[in-house]
Amino acid sequence: MSTHPIGIFDSGIGGTSIFKEIEALLPNEHTLYLADSFNAPYGNKSKDEIIALSIKNTEFLISKKCKIIVVACNTATTNAIKELRDRFDIPFVGIEPAIKPAALSTQTKAIGILATKGTLSSELFHKSADLYSHSIRVIEQVGEGIVSLIEDGKTNSEDMRSLLRIYLKPMLDANIDYLVLGCTHYPYLMPLLLEMLPKYVKIIDSGEAVARQTRTVLERHHLLNHQTTEVKNLFYSNGNTTVLEDILGGHYTVEHLMF
Ligand code: SIN
Repeated sequence: MSTHPIGIFDSGIGGTSIFKEIEALLPNEHTLYLADSFNAPYGNKSKDEIIALSIKNTEFLISKKCKIIVVACNTATTNAIKELRDRFDIPFVGIEPAIKPAALSTQTKAIGILATKGTLSSELFHKSADLYSHSIRVIEQVGEGIVSLIEDGKTNSEDMRSLLRIYLKPMLDANIDYLVLGCTHYPYLMPLLLEMLPKYVKIIDSGEAVARQTRTVLERHHLLNHQTTEVKNLFYSNGNTTVLEDILGGHYTVEHLMF
């Protein structure tokens, strides 16, 4: 079982930011990545729809003999992880916006969170945000349209700059010094954000923490792969395979799925 792959799914190509962290931290592990790009974005879907898609993705990864599932999507985690854990007898790792480190470090007592509508309206997100919102200002911003542009390969476009200008303004007006990226697609905005934000604003994403948590959960279940045979990283997409191949730097071929 320990030589079976780590299954990773996302609404699309954004979860590759998590795949890259897992690949760097756990180089012996085989992985299998599923991009449900046909159904992207998840951010505006209802909770029931997100649960149904997350179940379908999990069933696919289990059919491929994955030993653990990494839900590399904030929207799917915050809306569906409880249902997934209740339904499937396999360990799950999820991802949530990293509010805590930003809230504990802010000097200006104001932090910004950029995430999807689905994440920001979820109960799980509110539970975390409510822990800190009495002592600091938490400026929440829905990143409407960002995921679709990234899925269309328009990450570094004028349309993206215009959206970011609008979304960052209320945060900068509130004098934030931390910006939390609450969607796994958003780390791909890093070059633009670094250009558009003042230097004192620090950007936090949860990718590395998710990779560390994946290692911890594998250890706990005695599922770490200690064999050093050639590692296989497989990618499946039911959408545009070229965009996924490009974001992976052309190092992998993506199999198209009718899914
Ligand atoms: C989306 O599909 O709308 C975003 C995925 C995420 O929340 O990470």
